[in-house]
Amino acid sequence: MVEKNCKSSCKCCENESQETLLSRVDELINEYRGQKGALIPVLQQGQAIFGYLPEIVQKRISEGLGIPLHKVYGVVTFYSFFSQEPRGKYLIRVCMGTACYVRNGKKVLDELKEQLGVDVGETTDDLLFTLDVGRCFGACGLAPIIMVNDDVYQRLKPSEIGKILESYRKPQVEAEVAK
Ligand code: FES
Repeated sequence: MVEKNCKSSCKCCENESQETLLSRVDELINEYRGQKGALIPVLQQGQAIFGYLPEIVQKRISEGLGIPLHKVYGVVTFYSFFSQEPRGKYLIRVCMGTACYVRNGKKVLDELKEQLGVDVGETTDDLLFTLDVGRCFGACGLAPIIMVNDDVYQRLKPSEIGKILESYRKPQVEAEVAK
């Protein structure tokens, strides 16, 4: 039983939510079982349910669809849109194409690493931000560019990073206070 005052980070809540999420993955598997080409859509939707594809989910899908685990793992590691690590609510992608790189893109990236305390490919402990890099976002004239989910920031200066991060942290803090 979950205590009223228990914090969302405690083990009982984690287990409860994991079980709930796994039962949704089971429903998904049942929907697709026996269909050709089921693996990729099940992995995509499984990732949407969990936020990423931990081993426990890959095993469940492997057993549920009757596909060997090494094949499931092979697909997960082949496609870059699948992740085996938890990802932040906001994915920050820094353009490292040539135009952005020569116009201070590297300094922007260094500032993000410094302020977030993570390296490329890593996620902050509060699961708010994941830092990643990309190759040419197709708007070189506006370099340097970063994207935060679907938001685009162009002609960016490293000194503007703090304010941008704050604008994503703020709604989070307001939601915490409103609880
Ligand atoms: S190099 Fe960054 S948008 Fe083209």
